[in-house]
Amino acid sequence: MCGIVGYIGSAKAAPFLIKGLHQLEYRGYDSAGIALTQPETGRIEVFKAKGKVDNLERKLQQAAGEAAAFTVGIGHTRWATHGEPSEQNAHPHLSGSGELALVHNGIIENYQLLKEQLVELGYTFQSETDTEVLVQLIDYFYQKNGKKLKNAVSQALKKTIGAYAIVVMERNNGRHLVAARKASPLVIGIGQDSSEFFIGSDATPLIEHTHKMVYLEDEQIAEIRMGHELEITNLDEIVAEVSVKDVDLDISALSKGGYPHFMLKEIFEQPQCIENCMRGRVVKQADGTYDINLSALHNFKAKLIRARHVIIVACGTSWHAGLIGKQLIEEMCRIRVEVEYASEFRYRNPVIEKDDVVIAISQSGETADTLAAIQLAKQEGALVFGIVNGVGSSIARETETGVYIHVGPEIGVASTKAFTGQVTVLTMLSLALGRALGTVAEDKFQQICAGLVEIPRLMKQVLKQNDAIANLASQFTYAKNFLYLGRGYNYPVALEGALKLKEISYIHAEGYPAAEMKHGPIALVDKEMPIVFIATHHQLYHKIISNMQEVQSRGGRILAVVTEGDTDIQKFAHDLLEVPDIINCLEPLLSVLPMQLLAYHVAVKKGLNVDMPRNLAKSVTVE
Ligand code: M6R
Repeated sequence: MCGIVGYIGSAKAAPFLIKGLHQLEYRGYDSAGIALTQPETGRIEVFKAKGKVDNLERKLQQAAGEAAAFTVGIGHTRWATHGEPSEQNAHPHLSGSGELALVHNGIIENYQLLKEQLVELGYTFQSETDTEVLVQLIDYFYQKNGKKLKNAVSQALKKTIGAYAIVVMERNNGRHLVAARKASPLVIGIGQDSSEFFIGSDATPLIEHTHKMVYLEDEQIAEIRMGHELEITNLDEIVAEVSVKDVDLDISALSKGGYPHFMLKEIFEQPQCIENCMRGRVVKQADGTYDINLSALHNFKAKLIRARHVIIVACGTSWHAGLIGKQLIEEMCRIRVEVEYASEFRYRNPVIEKDDVVIAISQSGETADTLAAIQLAKQEGALVFGIVNGVGSSIARETETGVYIHVGPEIGVASTKAFTGQVTVLTMLSLALGRALGTVAEDKFQQICAGLVEIPRLMKQVLKQNDAIANLASQFTYAKNFLYLGRGYNYPVALEGALKLKEISYIHAEGYPAAEMKHGPIALVDKEMPIVFIATHHQLYHKIISNMQEVQSRGGRILAVVTEGDTDIQKFAHDLLEVPDIINCLEPLLSVLPMQLLAYHVAVKKGLNVDMPRNLAKSVTVE
């Protein structure tokens, strides 16, 4: 996700900012920028570049002039959420008055409404971002209150719904910076005798300068002044205690957020990602009931409601998410759904009618086969709806409408958090469309929404089995073949578990609907063959137990993923992993986590390159 750096002191700010932005590159980004000022000059200089920090660095070398020596600065690497990756949308954003500059991580959910109010007050906007709305809002209070920056920031943040970590710089008072956070981390490093301060969205860029760090709490604002003690208040400007931590961290580990691999980091990020994905979309109302708010659905409601037939096109993991989407849409909306490999669909002369809706699912938004499938669907006049992670990506641009999954950059080649993000979006879409169609009962709608908002918490619970799964994984490194079996909503999870394992551990693995086993794959079962059953309570539980008995009697080694507290399956399985009980359509969001962890740990135990497995690319932009 986006990264923030800031500096105030007596050294040149730009070198720290540029190095810091490089150190935050691991978070993924599409553009970068810095703003510099100097107490004596009373001006702010902004430099931005699309693409790599190197581009920004080159620009700075060519154009910085005396600003290169300025000693106060803020910087940002942006991962687009509102508006495509471009220089205009990159941070820092200046207020219209030119007096304030701001960098921001997070999402301002009510930015549209705030923007309309500011436009009425005469404010104009240069970018499509929610961040520019925030800096203009701060500017509004700043002009009103006699230019007291901290007060203006707190007033603006009180009007803001969403997540933020921000740092604000002032043109005519370069002696301080104001920082704040809510639901997005921000850390302030204290230099010798408070003579300088370093700011970061995490400690990576700070650690080589200081070990004294202050982690801001939610809804806290910090006033950072050179040569003064740090002052922290809440949004009502009531002073809070400044808790300084002595942080000692290994910088190489920090670049992966403290995890040994991006894949593990991304697996553990999922609770936060799903929260981000649902933010402002699954909304609890004043009467305690839930509503689902998807602007894509709102804008294309008539066309979506008219759809007689939905075709989902995708590849790999995104295709597995599509299989879950099929079950969700058919269950909630009673619309017929087909799920197609984009690579087959594009060459198959498929039947596409004008009233069809084609849903394209892609993490990268750049997959060549999915793009070609979209173009074909458009030629035939279907509405094409994208479920994409890469903001401003080719697929995002080619589709007429859609929903971003907002899980942040995925760097590990094996897709993990994108899958749960895609399934979350498909769940919200099916629920909202089903409600509009009147095909989902209100109590069921409410029950599923209530389950959805619990998912981040329950995911954390499942992830606690990480050590147990790591131990278990050592027993499987010998395996040459694996079978993954599941039913209903967990059948695509079996496919996904098998794909994860083969991608990174190079063990051959197949996923099957459990009942299909006796139509062929059972011939493979022997003592050497690990078989993973996803056998939670809802999914034809008793029938899956029979399938398990068939495997047990042929000596297969069973690892079962069961609903918490299930002791019956102990009789058949060598090993058990648990997931909390939840309504069955939401189970994949939990049951896929042990699959991801198992694949990860088997590959690690085999000493393989988990993040960059052989022969695979993160984004498959060729056929
Ligand atoms: O970026 P996309 O979601 O369009 O990519 C599709 C597949 O290439 C991708 O899911 C691939 O299968 C992953 N390596 C799975 O882990």
